[in-house]
Amino acid sequence: MLAQLETILYRIGAFILALISTFSSLLGMRGGGIPKEAATEDTLCMTIAAISDTHVGKDAIGAAFLTPGMRDISDPSLDVDAVLFLGDNTDNGNVDNWEVFTKSVTANCKVKNKIVLLGNHDTWISYDTPHVYEEGLKNYLHYSNLIMGTNNTLPYFTRVFNGYWFICLAQEDTSVSATISDTQLNWLEEQLRLAAADGNGKPIFVLLHQPMNFTHAVGDNLNNNGINDGQSKKLQAILDRYENVFYFSGHQHYGLNDGTDQLPAGFSTVEHVGRNITSVNFPAFGRGSYFDGGDPLIGDGLIVNVYADRIEFLGRNFVAGGWLDFNQTVYFTGITE
Ligand SMILES: [Fe+2]
Repeated sequence: MLAQLETILYRIGAFILALISTFSSLLGMRGGGIPKEAATEDTLCMTIAAISDTHVGKDAIGAAFLTPGMRDISDPSLDVDAVLFLGDNTDNGNVDNWEVFTKSVTANCKVKNKIVLLGNHDTWISYDTPHVYEEGLKNYLHYSNLIMGTNNTLPYFTRVFNGYWFICLAQEDTSVSATISDTQLNWLEEQLRLAAADGNGKPIFVLLHQPMNFTHAVGDNLNNNGINDGQSKKLQAILDRYENVFYFSGHQHYGLNDGTDQLPAGFSTVEHVGRNITSVNFPAFGRGSYFDGGDPLIGDGLIVNVYADRIEFLGRNFVAGGWLDFNQTVYFTGITE
């Protein structure tokens, strides 16, 4: 019975995907095109596919979108080196949700290097019972370690792919906004020091599900969205001491925007923050944009092309397998080689 229901739901999902593919050209997508072909081969160092807020539940609908998304990310024409899942991977971080998410990713994503961040929804086992952080953390560690091939015992960790450092942060309670302990911030500072020494001017990626306060149209912590208890300022001050820091977040569900035409006022996907931080807020893969003017389609994310002197952010709908009308480039400073 359950299998039959899943099959029916999968077919409904597939039908919706067909509709998306049919009408995608009306919504600003441009078909085909391989970023690396347009690039100078000898300067393209890494291609990242990054998505956030997949919000996979226990039913088959979440997987119906995630599965074609994973297949698109694995397409050889994209030549992706690493995949980032920026949190709220599950709608509730219980075993049922994680099983659906993990099976879809492991069966369909052929890219070896993966990062799975903790999001606030991943710390919520149920909407009906009090949230207990330790329960969500236990499930997150079990399934994220399975997917990443790691043995992490903490939700914050570092991975190095193609010589680039990805320093991954995590909230330490079950609130919507992030609580980051001084212990974690001290750890971050040490990781940044090591990354800078190793990278010699290369960009350093710092990942947290929530954006910093006063970025991406996020207010202070009263908005219950960014980072709690003054930790956002401390985090930004630490990041500001280093060159070419790229801070990736999700959480907002605001879609993709170049800062000109989308609610809420002032939201921009790629922002310059502080002295030399580039903050990038990713759309909600599993939800579409909450706001008028944003792309309502499920499956949006970014292809991030890392060159020797710049990073290029290209919008892509991974479910329909088409490019979006979003393309922004950030050049580095402080290159010493
Ligand atoms: Fe979310």
